[in-house]
Amino acid sequence: MPDQLPAAPRINPSILAADFVNMQAELDRIATADFVHVDVMDNHFVPNLTFGPQMVERIQATSPVPLDVHLMIDDPDRWAPGYAELGAASVTFHLEAAHEPVWLARRLRELGARAGVAVKPATPVEGLFDILDDFDQILVMTVEPGFGGQGFMAETMPKLRRLADEAHRRGSAVWLQVDGGISESTIAQAAQAGADTFVAGSAVFGKDDPDAAIAALRAIAGDHLHR
Ligand code: DX5
Ligand code: ZN
Repeated sequence: MPDQLPAAPRINPSILAADFVNMQAELDRIATADFVHVDVMDNHFVPNLTFGPQMVERIQATSPVPLDVHLMIDDPDRWAPGYAELGAASVTFHLEAAHEPVWLARRLRELGARAGVAVKPATPVEGLFDILDDFDQILVMTVEPGFGGQGFMAETMPKLRRLADEAHRRGSAVWLQVDGGISESTIAQAAQAGADTFVAGSAVFGKDDPDAAIAALRAIAGDHLHR
């Protein structure tokens, strides 16, 4: 983990939109990112399959930027600690899939990772209010998880705002992340609703100059940060 954590707004490109067989070159194209967002899918929790710890370990060894691992998998209680052990800066599991989310978050922190929890669009956030201190980041999905290139679901914004207001009320330092359909046309509303960390796949890797896309997203988000 870096000694000095990047300040908000943080832009985390998702390598789901990258060329998997040229990963080293793709990682070099996003050297100005705050974190590399790594989507792990198991074909059970979501109807899509990416890769597991062996690939993530290689990305970790290759990437100039720390890893933000997003686990879209069943039984994260069993599998998530392994991603912290291989050196990921943050490990985010889904609330819907975890058996003991507080235990798991504490285990991830013990292993040196930032602990993250993600919620799908239809999952309420109120159940997280009393356990905010156990997490370093909360990911509000702005699409149904599983695929890149989907449309941003603006109907998740009131939930994000309620979470941001509650975090602010409690003086929490938790980071609030959004993932799915984030682009130059949607990032402002997510920032206004309280997000400070933004995952973008196609809006970064789909551009000729990914670093310029990162800078543009960062500038728009910075102009609209809620707190
Ligand atoms: C979707 C993944 C996202 C995805 C985002 O389930 O969690 O990280 O890569 O892709 P875009 O930004 O293209 O919607
Ligand atoms: Zn993701």
